[in-house]
Amino acid sequence: MSRAAVLAGLGAMVPERAVDNEEISRLVDTSDEWIRTRTGISRRYWAAPGTATGDLAVVAGRRALESAGVDTVDQVILATSTPNRPMPATAPEVAAALGLAGVPGFDLSAACAGFIYGLHSAAGAIAAGFAERVLVIGADIWSTRLDPEDRATAIIFGDGAGAAVLRAGDATEPGALTGFDLGSDGANRDLAFLPAGGSRQRSERAPLREEDNYLAMRGKEIFTHAVERMAGSSETLLKSIGWTAEDLDWFVGHQANVRILHTVADVMDVPRDQVVVHLDKVGNTSAASIPLALTDAAAEGRLEPGQKILLTAFGGGLSWGSVALSWPDIKVTGIETA
Ligand code: ACO
Repeated sequence: MSRAAVLAGLGAMVPERAVDNEEISRLVDTSDEWIRTRTGISRRYWAAPGTATGDLAVVAGRRALESAGVDTVDQVILATSTPNRPMPATAPEVAAALGLAGVPGFDLSAACAGFIYGLHSAAGAIAAGFAERVLVIGADIWSTRLDPEDRATAIIFGDGAGAAVLRAGDATEPGALTGFDLGSDGANRDLAFLPAGGSRQRSERAPLREEDNYLAMRGKEIFTHAVERMAGSSETLLKSIGWTAEDLDWFVGHQANVRILHTVADVMDVPRDQVVVHLDKVGNTSAASIPLALTDAAAEGRLEPGQKILLTAFGGGLSWGSVALSWPDIKVTGIETA
């Protein structure tokens, strides 16, 4: 018997308001055709005024607990780059709303790779015997951080939340997390970043420009790094656990642009029909992207127990990470807002 973290429950949500490409075309100079051909995205969801990231995280967290059939965990990790406020962390607030006050909770910041980093941290705590069960949530609201004049970001980002419950189990069980590969590259931190609100900007005491409150992204360069890092990390992971690309049933990559997903699959020799594509329905939901894609695929009955799955993500930081698992026998509901 070899102790390992096992996926026990999964849940995700998007806010109510769908924003299609026609609506985006009225905000910035673009078109439905351009967005669909260059990104694969047809619509995304934007949170209503007054809704914060923690609110979405609570819904996804509750769904994951229900999916796992449990009402307690030993730790709550919230991966987000858009917390309710810079301080304190949002995870304790989310934990309290889930009836988990008193449980350790912390935020984790690794942009679009945050959920994979969260799984890694949770799996480590479980492997060390520090926790039997951990709730990992990835949630972001980027819609309030989009520059109304920047068509590169306005077209791709959507809001959402996804969550998983990991429990202690055996490495041979369906659902066991088999291995990880993580990495970062701070030299390229300026490729996707939020200039205002941190100690760097505050201590420089330079006048705050309106655009500093918005996500700044160099799309073309991010694209190249995303392909290189997701393919590289996936291949490193497969090698380290003795799997090959042919062993995979499903490849679930960070949902930013379908051209990125297909290029990574081509580099790795994974057939394109084994790539889970969910961004057409929700856009790039940052830390929520992987659990949203997984939840949707599971709710549609596409994932079968015992199938081999590779998750890989990339985002600002730069940060990236991959995890391999076999699919468990769990019940998962859809992502629609109740
Ligand atoms: N609508 C219409 N035309 C556009 C648009 C648009 N929204 N955006 C760019 N164009 C035009 C450009 O002006 C350019 O025209 P030109 O050739 O006449 O000069 C042409 O289309 C190509 O522009 P590119 O910037 O090269 O467009 P690209 O194909 O790279 O697509 C995009 C841009 C969609 C942003 C892409 O680069 C991308 O998806 N990048 C990755 C984003 C990503 O992965 N982000 C995740 C990290 S963010 C985080 O972690 C929070």
